[in-house]
Amino acid sequence: MAETTFYSLLGDLENYLNDQRDTGVQRLEVDRAVLAELAKEPTIDPVEALAVETAGVPENFQSLEAIAEHVLSCRSCSLCQTRTNPVFGEGCTDSPDILFVGEGPGASEDAQGRPFVGKAGQLLTKMIEAMGYKREQVFITNIIKCCPPNHRSPLPEEMEICLPYLRQQIEMIQPKVVVGLGATAIKGLLGKTAGITRLRGTWQEYQGIKLMPTFHPSYLLRDPSKKKIVWQDLQLVLKALGREAPAKGK
Ligand code: URA
Repeated sequence: MAETTFYSLLGDLENYLNDQRDTGVQRLEVDRAVLAELAKEPTIDPVEALAVETAGVPENFQSLEAIAEHVLSCRSCSLCQTRTNPVFGEGCTDSPDILFVGEGPGASEDAQGRPFVGKAGQLLTKMIEAMGYKREQVFITNIIKCCPPNHRSPLPEEMEICLPYLRQQIEMIQPKVVVGLGATAIKGLLGKTAGITRLRGTWQEYQGIKLMPTFHPSYLLRDPSKKKIVWQDLQLVLKALGREAPAKGK
């Protein structure tokens, strides 16, 4: 069974609250004792702290290959201690129509070193194909490049440390449109206060590139009724690219 840690509990709680909010719940009763427990800082293992470099991710890569190489041996945050394979991203790097940004690798991605290859990834592939593209014609990556332990969401500090990779990937790949998948991707791209429920389906901008926020495929697996609005968001993307989705079955 997966080990339960402070961060995994916090991640579960965050996922639960996001789900509640996304289904329209606006108020929840919370026990004061639970809040007090959550407010306690976890103690950091000094050995774990030592294993992480303090230098951070360079801001001056000269090529995508250089970024990919750095990602493979990155030790800039403690996720390097629990990941199996970092996940750089994959697809067309020569100004593709779309660059999809997810949250971070899950267990399947960690095992294979490739983005979106688990259940949510299979759904993302179907969405890409429904838009009239092959997976290899778009670029797919994540806010963070290493899988967090115990299925928890990335921590804000992990996102901050890892973001220079994504910023430089986008700068070099120059996609025509970025599609941000889910709450974490949108927070990473647009800042702490950006909410997916409010922003989905509305054009935003990231590094001068059009950004469309929409729900994450794993949320669609939990609530398939949301597929319809995500499809509307993706139609807006196609429209901005001067394209139409092919008729079903083509
Ligand atoms: N979920 C993500 O956000 N990214 C992946 O690569 C896989 C699942």
